[in-house]
Amino acid sequence: MCGIIGYVGDRPCYELIVRGLERLEYRGYDSAGFALLDADNDRYALVRAVGKLEDLRAATVGADGLEGPTTGIGHTRWATHGKVTLPNAHPHVSNDGRVAVVMNGIIENYVELRRRLQDEGVVFASETDTEVLPHLLARHYEGDIVAAVQAVLPQLSGHYAFVASHTSEPGRLVAVRHECPLVVGVGVNEMFLASAIPAFLGETREVIYPENDEIVVVDRDAVHIYDGFGTEVTRPTRTWEGSEEAAEKGGYDTFMLKEIHEQPAALWDTIGSRLGADGSISLDGIGIDDHVLARVDAVHIVACGTSYHAGLAGRYLIEDWARIPVSVEVASEYRYRTCLAGPGDLVIGITQSGETADTLAAMRVARERGAHVVALTNQTDSQAARDANGVLLTRAGLEIGVAATKTHTAQIMALAVLALKLGRMRWSLTEAGVRDLSEELRRLPDAIEQYLLSSAPADVAAVAAKYVDKGFFLYLGRHVGVPVCFEGALKLKEISYVPTEAYPAGEMKHGPIALLDEGSPVVVVAPDGHVFDKVISNIQEVRARGARVIAVATEGNEEIALHADDVLWAPRTPALLSPITTIVPLQLFAYEIAKGKGLNVDKPRNLAKTVTVE
Ligand code: AGP
Repeated sequence: MCGIIGYVGDRPCYELIVRGLERLEYRGYDSAGFALLDADNDRYALVRAVGKLEDLRAATVGADGLEGPTTGIGHTRWATHGKVTLPNAHPHVSNDGRVAVVMNGIIENYVELRRRLQDEGVVFASETDTEVLPHLLARHYEGDIVAAVQAVLPQLSGHYAFVASHTSEPGRLVAVRHECPLVVGVGVNEMFLASAIPAFLGETREVIYPENDEIVVVDRDAVHIYDGFGTEVTRPTRTWEGSEEAAEKGGYDTFMLKEIHEQPAALWDTIGSRLGADGSISLDGIGIDDHVLARVDAVHIVACGTSYHAGLAGRYLIEDWARIPVSVEVASEYRYRTCLAGPGDLVIGITQSGETADTLAAMRVARERGAHVVALTNQTDSQAARDANGVLLTRAGLEIGVAATKTHTAQIMALAVLALKLGRMRWSLTEAGVRDLSEELRRLPDAIEQYLLSSAPADVAAVAAKYVDKGFFLYLGRHVGVPVCFEGALKLKEISYVPTEAYPAGEMKHGPIALLDEGSPVVVVAPDGHVFDKVISNIQEVRARGARVIAVATEGNEEIALHADDVLWAPRTPALLSPITTIVPLQLFAYEIAKGKGLNVDKPRNLAKTVTVE
């Protein structure tokens, strides 16, 4: 989604702003721009470009006034309202040229606001919802940009984070967030505002997290935050502990490949402090008393995309180990259904970013119904973490590749820990059972590490090379193989743009089999387990139609090679945990196909890392 960076300080800020935007590239964008405020001649140097940041840099050639300014705002735009065009790129400026604004999110009532402003004589330069902001602020400006923001806020509905500047107040930026992320980076004689911390990593690690609807005023040497009534509030400054190195590729060609290889560490860090050698399980931070957890009637999981697939995999674990009914639903649907969750239910919002708009909304609906809501997230300071009763943290580290990999397997791992704990609390697992399963969980990071260090990734690449020109892939699996198919198919389509379909193999004869033809590639997830023979029957059925089968199977299984054209091996683990292992070859498979097509796997077209709009 859109990225925001703002700077006030002693240093000329052109490079700081553009570098900040580069660090936000991973969020996905289609155009970019910045406005630097030149205090001497009371105007903005405004540069915008459609395309990538290289295009923005190219657009600066010959532009005046970039060297001096020490106040600036920048933006990467991911189009929601209005096409990908130069006039729609941010920043947007008021008709008098005095107010500049960048925004992330959506102003839902912009049509009405725009009409009103046009009736008052305002001329719009873009089709965006954002542009109402500079015009509204200019109309309410009476010498104090903070007062103007205060006057405008009650007129807005939607979810947004914006940063505004006025030419009469150089050296000052004002920002507000409403259900969209915004952080302040505190430096020495300089301040940053950004939609995400990586934007200013390298400059400062001191961070302030404003709350919803607070007005944040940053000057070079001070941050003032005001609540909705105009009363100044204090928000603590915290030190960001994440590693800067994580924002670099660390020797890998792409962030995605690096993050695939970081899975052993991500898994280990996620369970490390939770599973004691004595069989103890800690759900530290979950914010719900043990006696309440032990008695929940049902678990509802809400999430989007890859996080939703992790939820689907977690359902098997919770139902089997803890014997609690689990429903899993995409958050964008859940939020608009009649929510029947109640005080006896546990609702888990899974979101690696902790900022996905639909997941936040679904969690909110459940909280309003009195359910116990937990955020399963990779970001302790995210909105999801703040909105929930408690947090189940994955410790996967910063994930930059748009296609989620290490956060996905870490999410399933965290759900496995929760399932173990619930199972023990409800006596559906014995003490010995918990010890054995904990041991299996602890073995997983190492098993995946060995796998990634072996010749397996090269073998996957060799198989992928055979299929790189195929125009469609069907993914089939049963039981825990089903969420793996969904996720494997999503990975392939999002980074290679090849259409994929993922189905429970038992459903194949009810429709998708009609898609198959001589040579059609079918990926079949077939780990060892009680449905293995059933999956083999499905393989026979697709092969009888001429399809080519790429099976994902457990290392050491001797039978599979008799039935498949190609095999992608996955480390051995109990069937219920196999979604953590079998997805790894499929991540690599998708990666290799996309690379084979020469595509940019870290920044696939049209996608954003964090979907902060509905
Ligand atoms: C993953 O590869 C996708 N890019 C996407 O589906 C993602 O999982 C989804 O947007 C949810 O994100 P979240 O975990 O940050 O909520």
